Amino acid sequence: MAELQKAGILGAGMMGAEIALVCARAGMAVVMKEVNLELAQKGKKRIADILNKQVSKGQLAQADADAALALVTPTDKYDGFADADIVVEAILEVVDIKQQAFRELDAVCKPTCIFASNTSSISITKLAAAARPDRFVGLHFFSPVSIMKLVEVIPGLLATPETVEIAKAFCVKIGKTPIKVKNVEGFAVNRMLCAMMNEAYRLVDEGVASIEDIDTACKLGLGHPVGPLRLCDNISLDLLGKVHDILAEAYGDRFKAPNAFRERVSAGHYGRKTGKGWYDY
Ligand SMILES: NC(=O)c1ccc[n+]([C@@H]2O[C@H](COP(=O)([O-])OP(=O)(O)OC[C@H]3O[C@@H](n4cnc5c(N)ncnc54)[C@H](O)[C@@H]3O)[C@@H](O)[C@H]2O)c1
Repeated sequence: MAELQKAGILGAGMMGAEIALVCARAGMAVVMKEVNLELAQKGKKRIADILNKQVSKGQLAQADADAALALVTPTDKYDGFADADIVVEAILEVVDIKQQAFRELDAVCKPTCIFASNTSSISITKLAAAARPDRFVGLHFFSPVSIMKLVEVIPGLLATPETVEIAKAFCVKIGKTPIKVKNVEGFAVNRMLCAMMNEAYRLVDEGVASIEDIDTACKLGLGHPVGPLRLCDNISLDLLGKVHDILAEAYGDRFKAPNAFRERVSAGHYGRKTGKGWYDY
């Protein structure tokens, strides 16, 4: 298997910038494309801020931070994508926009380049239908990417075993642990997470335990670093509501969010970002 030396990243938002960061920390050259240069540079600034924080905490040498940052080229064009060995897409969660981007990439990237999408909810096989279905995988990272170790590797229907091996090798190279998961709604992690969160909402709904005690139970009884209701507030109830809808459609009522959740969404209490959710901020 040839060494992966260069990554193309589409999107420099919350996920794209940090995926670019972990690639650069692994010594890969990175070209990071946004819809305009200002957003691409904002993504690079986000990377610089994270690296600076790691330096100030003594987790990273200044020289290593400088070297990583120098490897990232922000751009609003596909210049620099022609010799990328892998492209990871982390743009808007809209099928048509993602498929269009992969068609554009297909025209500029070398034939051996692997295409990956960081989608959380769109079928990988559907995205792969746009371009290179044999060299296409889902790579589902977790936020914050600079800290979370897991990546779900999701082969589309036509992905070759070699593509999956290259994708897994890429994850290992950038310091992540890959797990192979079938292309199903919610993949593996979000199915487990939403099942647990739904049960936590139901406990609130039924008055079985207080919000604080449910989170304490998961932290001290199950060893979770954060309770499900606090995590729900951090991710945001509006986003999770959409995930619950997708899972309920795929798997039935067991994923339907109960009243305690839906009432908060109706009130606009989306969690930390609105100052109110399960908790007040
Ligand atoms: N946020 C999470 O926790 C999380 C976790 C796993 C997966 N994801 C997935 O990652 C993807 C990105 O999510 P995010 O939270 O980083 O979103 P975000 O809104 O922070 O960033 C998306 C960026 O993509 C840019 N963009 C849009 N169209 C583009 C194009 N054609 N070319 C280049 N850039 C383009 C936007 O300008 C924006 O800056 C989504 O598919 C999402 O489902 C998100």
